[in-house]
Amino acid sequence: MHMSRISRRQLLAGLAGGALWLSTPGAFAERLLTPAQTLGPFYPDQLPLDQDNDLLIVDDHLTPASGVVVHLYGLILDAHGKPLKDALVEIWQVDAHGVYLHSRGGERNARDVNFQGYGRFVTGANGEYRFRTIRPVAYPGRTPHIHVAVTLPGQPRFVTQCYIRGERGNQGDGVLNAIRDPQARERLIVPFVPVAGSTAGEQVARFDIVLGFTPAS
Ligand SMILES: [Fe+2]
Repeated sequence: MHMSRISRRQLLAGLAGGALWLSTPGAFAERLLTPAQTLGPFYPDQLPLDQDNDLLIVDDHLTPASGVVVHLYGLILDAHGKPLKDALVEIWQVDAHGVYLHSRGGERNARDVNFQGYGRFVTGANGEYRFRTIRPVAYPGRTPHIHVAVTLPGQPRFVTQCYIRGERGNQGDGVLNAIRDPQARERLIVPFVPVAGSTAGEQVARFDIVLGFTPAS
């Protein structure tokens, strides 16, 4: 399923800010690199047939996933702030009941069969990616997070996690706080903000990813 017009507008509004950011002179790359994180144990052990960027609708189900709808988007950039095209972006996360699309990823009977659990998107020339998903919930031992992997042709997979600003569990989360540098840690924590005009309580989150190498072009 494709994203709604409203979310598309919202994304473009957000990306206008990105253009300003990109116009900042170089020499900032080191400070802006996205820290890597563990892949974790719950990358789907069986990928869904439906792998598109709308995790709210599985196949032709009529019922959308439970949970707070989130429009997650951002730019994939190299260390010089240049947008990277042909980047395969994958996300995976728990559903509204804290269950992964994984045979050992939580209480199987509680899994929301209407949540895709995993999605992928390939960037175009502007380096932008976008997903429609739900706001992840905490599960035992972890603060809410979305797993994100980025793979460029001929490069190893870069893996990290996106966290929600203001979540109380962030301070005690062992994986997040394994990043010792507070500024680097903050780069993984982004605001999930209400979509203007949404009566359904939808949220939008921007998570840019800066990779520490420049691929051969
Ligand atoms: Fe996880």
